[in-house]
Amino acid sequence: MNIQTAADTVRHLLQAQNEAGHQPLAQNAIVYAPANIALCKYWGKRNLPLNLPQTSSLSISLAGHGTHARISIAEGAHALSINEVEIPADDPAAKRMFAFLDLFRACTGTYFTLKTISTVPVGAGLASSASAFASVVQALDTLFGWGLDFPAQSILARLGSGSASRSIDHGFLEWDRGQRDDGLDSYASYLPVEWPDFRIALVPISDQAKPIGSRDAMNRTVAESQLYQAWPNQVTRDLDLIRDAIEAKDILALGQAAECNAMAMHATMLASRPAILYWLPESVAALHRVWQLRADGIQVFATMDAGPNVKLIFEAKQQNAVEDAFDSIDVIDPFGYIEPDIGPLDDG
Ligand code: DP6
Repeated sequence: MNIQTAADTVRHLLQAQNEAGHQPLAQNAIVYAPANIALCKYWGKRNLPLNLPQTSSLSISLAGHGTHARISIAEGAHALSINEVEIPADDPAAKRMFAFLDLFRACTGTYFTLKTISTVPVGAGLASSASAFASVVQALDTLFGWGLDFPAQSILARLGSGSASRSIDHGFLEWDRGQRDDGLDSYASYLPVEWPDFRIALVPISDQAKPIGSRDAMNRTVAESQLYQAWPNQVTRDLDLIRDAIEAKDILALGQAAECNAMAMHATMLASRPAILYWLPESVAALHRVWQLRADGIQVFATMDAGPNVKLIFEAKQQNAVEDAFDSIDVIDPFGYIEPDIGPLDDG
């Protein structure tokens, strides 16, 4: 089968299930998927319809910060509620999610009612789209009993949002860019390393709407920034450094490489025409504070995504010093997460 669109990809991955027919196993399915932060960033696509990245990327999941999703069959139209608020069909978030659900409706012939509860703190500047798309794929898989393996789940989540490909599991995940034109080798895999002392913290800077979303920003960077030519080499180097550092549980090597990678990503977008700058004065102040802490001997490192908020990387032994230096940060222990027996959507 010649795969050129997202719809082709879904049809291909659900081929066997399509032949068997789609029967929901229950009234609804409820799942949870964690958000993630890239330590080596995904920035730029090589194929827009299939949402294939220019480079590989690597992330850490955010434990209890993510999306609970409940999905059921609907009559006549999709319906979406986020945090118990009905989202109108003409809202951009609903349009994007309904377009994604339509990829599956083409196979199952059914509309869906989707309810999501995000446990990502409001104003923390974390995209909840990664965990949202991953949770929808896993909820559909559970509802219909498709039995999709992790690569297939990751590919399907990728069609909703690239970073969602890395939200199908907890821990460190690497999204391999893949080599194939059809994208069937472009999915994330779990790195088998448990690092109980690893911490990531969210420094809230601003919850104002961003001047430009990550998708448009990365497309403009690829099209307009001369510095983007250097990005694939940067990622190749940083990925090796970060993978090795995770393996060795070496926070200095990991932090240095992850911070450099984030700064380099922002440099590529700054050289776009017109320039893309997500940073606010408070973001710069937070970076200076990180660098001052390091000068004082505290091993803490920064990363930033498509927004003004700063995330901190460190180990448990530095947690008190980091909390003393930053007001109201949210410290996450990625390996300390225990699935709640009953999620917020389990009660009907
Ligand atoms: C800066 O995954 O939101 O967070 O695939 O277009 O939906 P689309 O982009 P998205 O981009 C994430 C960009 C980033 C880096 C990262 O998460 O790797």
